[in-house]
This record gives sequence, C-alpha cells and structure tokens, in this order.
Amino acid sequence: MRKNKQFIQVAMIAIILGALAAVVAYFGDWLPAPASREAGRIWFVIWISTIVSIVIFAIVTAAIIYAAVKFRAAPDDDTDGPSIHGHSRLEIVWTIIPTVIVVLLSIASAVAMHDNGKAAPDRIKIEGIAQQFSFAFKYENGVQSGTLRLPLKRQAELHLTALDVIHSFWVPDFGQKQDMVPGQTFKLNVTPTRLGTYPLICTELCGLGHSIMRTSAIVMEPAAFEKWLADQKAALSGPPGEAGKTVFTNNGCAACHAFTAAGATGAVGPSLDDLSASATAAGQPLEDFIRESIVAPNKVAAKGYPANVMPQTFAQLPEDQLDALVTYIAENGKGGS
Ligand code: CUA
Repeated sequence: MRKNKQFIQVAMIAIILGALAAVVAYFGDWLPAPASREAGRIWFVIWISTIVSIVIFAIVTAAIIYAAVKFRAAPDDDTDGPSIHGHSRLEIVWTIIPTVIVVLLSIASAVAMHDNGKAAPDRIKIEGIAQQFSFAFKYENGVQSGTLRLPLKRQAELHLTALDVIHSFWVPDFGQKQDMVPGQTFKLNVTPTRLGTYPLICTELCGLGHSIMRTSAIVMEPAAFEKWLADQKAALSGPPGEAGKTVFTNNGCAACHAFTAAGATGAVGPSLDDLSASATAAGQPLEDFIRESIVAPNKVAAKGYPANVMPQTFAQLPEDQLDALVTYIAENGKGGS
C-alpha cells in the first residue's frame, strides 16, 4: 500500500516535469519548418528522439527529486545506509529498455537515410563547387550561378566537391549537411517543398573568410525555374557584351564591386569603372589584366585590398563565359579621360 502511494507521487512529479519539458520542446523556436522532403524525414527522427529524451528526463528527475526530499537524512544522522547487494530483475530491466530504445532509433534513422538517398527518375543534376570563399553551381546546360536555384517538388541531385580545402554545404531549412572535399564528389538529394529564399552556409571552418562564405538557395516554381535556366542559356549565347552581364550577375560580382554598367555598388572590392589606369600600371593590355584579375586575383590584387578576399572560384567558369565576362568588363570599365 505504501509502495503504491510512493509510486503515484513519483509518477505525478514525472508527469509535471514531462509536461514542462514538452512545452519547452514544442513551443521553443528550435528548428526551422522543413523546406524539403529530406528535412521532413530528419525532423521526424529528431522528434522521436526528443520524445524519448523527455520521457527519460521526466522519470529520472522525478525519482531524484522524490528521493532527495523524502529520504533526506536528519542533520545529526551519521549512520550508514543499508548495504544492498545486486538486484537481477532490475538489472535485466535497465539493460533491455535502453537496448530497445537504441534499436528503434537506429531503425528510424536508417529508414530516413535510405529514403533520403533514393534517386528519383526525374531528378536534375547540379554540380556544386566550393572554394575559399564562395560556392558555384553548374547546371547540365552549362549555366553557372553563385546562388543555388531549385525547382519546387523536384529532386535535385547535388554533386558536391571542393577545390582547395574542406568546406561544408548547409541549408538549415533543408536539414542536411554535407562536407565538400577536394578530390572527392559526394551526392546529396534535395527535394524542395516550399517556395522561398534560404540561407546557404559553409559550415566547416575553411579559413579567414569562412564567416562570409554564404549565399542563397532559391526555390522556384518549376516553370519559372525552367524559364530562368533557358534565359540564362540564351543570354550566355548572345553577344559577348550581354552574355558578360549575365555572367556578372550570376556569379555575384555585384556583391563586392561597384560597376556602373551593371548598376552595382558593392564596396568590398575595388570599383571596376576605371580599370585602364590599373592595367597600364600592371603593364598589361586591359583585357589580359581583367582576365588575370578574375582567374588569379591574388597575383594582381589592387592596393589596399587584401589577398584571398576575392574568390578564386572563377577560374572554374566555362571558357566562353569567362571570355564574355572579360569583354563585358573591358567594354564598360575602360573609364573616361
Ligand atoms: Cu568554406 Cu567555411
């Protein structure tokens, strides 16, 4: 009878603690709403383990609180407690329960990982290349972009690699992280379920510019995505001046450089409006100077601008896009005088 009463008291404390922990877990803003099918599966596993953790937390904490209050020794009580010698049934129970929990969590994780790794027949393939300190994404039709654009509800198979050191691909709303390692290519599936623009972050300390190595993942309606891809392709095959403008925009040049022709006002790197003087100072023809500044920026870094800030990724641009970009900058960045 007395045991029953103790059990009920511990259970009451456990229920209160469990309810409190559940409120904190449920109403706290811990995770972004999943924006991809893969994230939905990962969130499911996270919620299972959260629920298991809350139950264990509630029972253990309730027992500790109850014991500390109920069995507290009187201040002048120096006697030892009774000596207890093993309890086979208890030991069996506390071995079996954690085993069952761990096996269930492993199965749930294995199912989620297996489903996330499955290739859909209508998937699109996109190459992702990381380099200090920027990302580049190449589509199957040759278009290259500094932001990752994806069609809604269609699986994208990302082929991720790096050129210099280890980086890591992370879009928190998509749930998955994948290291980007030089000399190796890893696949990662993303099937976006919500339109929007999400931060895309490098999540591996990769050098001084690690903290600024970020861009966006943009989820578009499939028709808008196809149109964007076709427009990019068309713009790239137009006259070099116009194709160059597209390359300039796609690769995020405007984020760092001021360039009147493109309406760009970036202030991280030197302005591109008056390059003739710099080319002369470097003793190079204008176009050669521009090309070298793009593919090997550290060789010719402008005065007052530290090396390694300009990404060296642009050496990866397809030859025709690089040519178009050089022509575009040369045509519009000669400067007056
Ligand atoms: Cu790339 Cu951190």
